[in-house]
Amino acid sequence: MTKLFQPLENPAFIPLRNRTVMSAMSRSFADSERCATDDMAAYYTRRAEGGAGLILTEGTLIHASGDGWANAPYIAEAKHADAWRKVVDGVHAEGGAIACQLWHMGRISHEDFTGDAPVSSTSQAAAGVNRQNNKPYGTPRALEASEMPGIYGLFADAAERALGAGFDAVELHMGHGYLPDQFMDGQVNDRTDQYGGSVENRCRFALELVEAVTKRVPGKQVMARISPSRMMGGLYEWPELDEMIAHLIPALGQLGLGALDVSCANSPYAETAGRMVRKIRPLFDGVIVAGASLSPQEAEAELESGFVDAITWGRAFIANPDLVRKITHNEELAAFDDTMRNTLV
Ligand SMILES: Cc1cc2nc3c(=O)[nH]c(=O)nc-3n(C[C@H](O)[C@H](O)[C@H](O)COP(=O)(O)O)c2cc1C
Repeated sequence: MTKLFQPLENPAFIPLRNRTVMSAMSRSFADSERCATDDMAAYYTRRAEGGAGLILTEGTLIHASGDGWANAPYIAEAKHADAWRKVVDGVHAEGGAIACQLWHMGRISHEDFTGDAPVSSTSQAAAGVNRQNNKPYGTPRALEASEMPGIYGLFADAAERALGAGFDAVELHMGHGYLPDQFMDGQVNDRTDQYGGSVENRCRFALELVEAVTKRVPGKQVMARISPSRMMGGLYEWPELDEMIAHLIPALGQLGLGALDVSCANSPYAETAGRMVRKIRPLFDGVIVAGASLSPQEAEAELESGFVDAITWGRAFIANPDLVRKITHNEELAAFDDTMRNTLV
């Protein structure tokens, strides 16, 4: 395991002590004000103590209008930023770095949480039910073009708040079917204005969002999570995938985006995100992080390939707070099981 434990120094992004990254994972343990708690601070601090190079927080709502998740934390007001400080300080005390994942769920949010109709690229409701309240997804209101700057502003405000609380970086959640992805996804985006239809138009929201955020905070402290290829039922990929990548990725680099987190949610890595990083690497000079339940040997091989700079793990970090220490000592890893979702250990 030589590469995995080498520091990561890329002038485009913040330095990391090694190439291990804890993926963003919603845990639903924020308090009734949606503030981070002492238990959350202890949970993240343990992962830093165990050696994690970079920790991504769970999806953190930038505003109530994007909320559809019970007890997810917010970073919408000063009180939320203040509450995050103890998490950040704990991780820093253990030598780790931490980025706040900024989340707007778009049509996956729910009126029970937002108090109003969700907003999206479309006015078509998502199929199925919101798993937080078991109610069908509501009919969203398609955002007017004139409203986009206001949405970007919510992200930029949240980014400033997060960096003000001491986070090393922020991650814009642009994958997994949430708001920015509802523009990139040609199956969801049915717009006929400048935000829908062609590849350029479907990428416009994401690019304007990154532009707005990097005008307000340094690009080297901004990451974006995308999921161009993932299994959701069957294999879902952005329509016109290669054209999307060819247009979006170099433009993100030109805007000064520090890092890309190429996710496949929990699909088999090699068939999805692993294929994507091979297309993305030649087009992006910033840091690329990716992974999904890779074995330490697979992770090392993937780093050696040069297509990624750091490896993400999700569930393995829940099951093994000291994941990185265990990998270092070649110790057996505890397997994740679903009951682990119920406690914050
Ligand atoms: C309990 C749980 C919560 C998750 N919540 C989020 C989230 O808030 N934001 C996000 O981008 N991905 C989320 N994910 C996806 C993970 O970040 C990760 O991409 C996925 O689990 C695949 O990695 P793994 O196979 O190493 O677990 C979640 C996954 C799990 C298991």
